[in-house]
Amino acid sequence: MISSSKRLLNFIRLLIATKGRVRALNFGSELICAFGVKIYPSKYITLGKRVFLGRGVVLSTSQSGLSPIKIGNDVMFAQDVMLIGGNHAIQASDKPMNELGEGKQGSIVIGNNVWLGARSIVLTGVTIEDGVVVGAGSVVTKSLPANSIAAGNPAKVISLRK
Ligand SMILES: CC(C)(COP(=O)(O)OP(=O)(O)OC[C@H]1O[C@@H](n2cnc3c(N)ncnc32)[C@H](O)[C@@H]1OP(=O)(O)O)[C@@H](O)C(=O)NCCC(=O)NCCS
Repeated sequence: MISSSKRLLNFIRLLIATKGRVRALNFGSELICAFGVKIYPSKYITLGKRVFLGRGVVLSTSQSGLSPIKIGNDVMFAQDVMLIGGNHAIQASDKPMNELGEGKQGSIVIGNNVWLGARSIVLTGVTIEDGVVVGAGSVVTKSLPANSIAAGNPAKVISLRK
């Protein structure tokens, strides 16, 4: 049972993380939010129960809502993990990319009971199934199967949990 002062502090950190848009964020009970977390735009991000967001975690997605982020229950984000939904369009090399609008989009889905190691990055369109461990510093560009341990850039399955 956490004390009411810790709960208040947690809420303040969440308020800062969402730039005051906590109400737009869909989150379950017992969410723990460390200092320096950034979540935007809150309305396209859903978090399950007992999610831990470590220091410096960034959950960000496109303003269009075409790359929503959904996180299950009992998920641990180590420090500085980034979920990056969306892309800029990159074709049409004769034009400046900042005029091209949105590129490849797709949901990021994190299942239940997942641990994302420090400084790992998950890109748009990736599903990380239940029970997965992602090694520190990994860049996850493709979906990962349940109970796998994946690491590296690009992240590959290195073993399966027993
Ligand atoms: C992935 C991890 C959990 C280890 O899993 P493990 O099953 O014990 O893996 P091992 O240490 O036996 O390593 C197996 C292989 O994967 C490689 N590997 C392990 N972690 C790696 C990583 N993060 N990136 C790239 N390769 C990695 C090892 O070098 C080894 O390669 P080899 O077979 O060529 O020798 C761990 O390495 C890790 O990254 N932990 C995250 C730590 C963290 O973020 N802590 C934050 C505190 S919450």
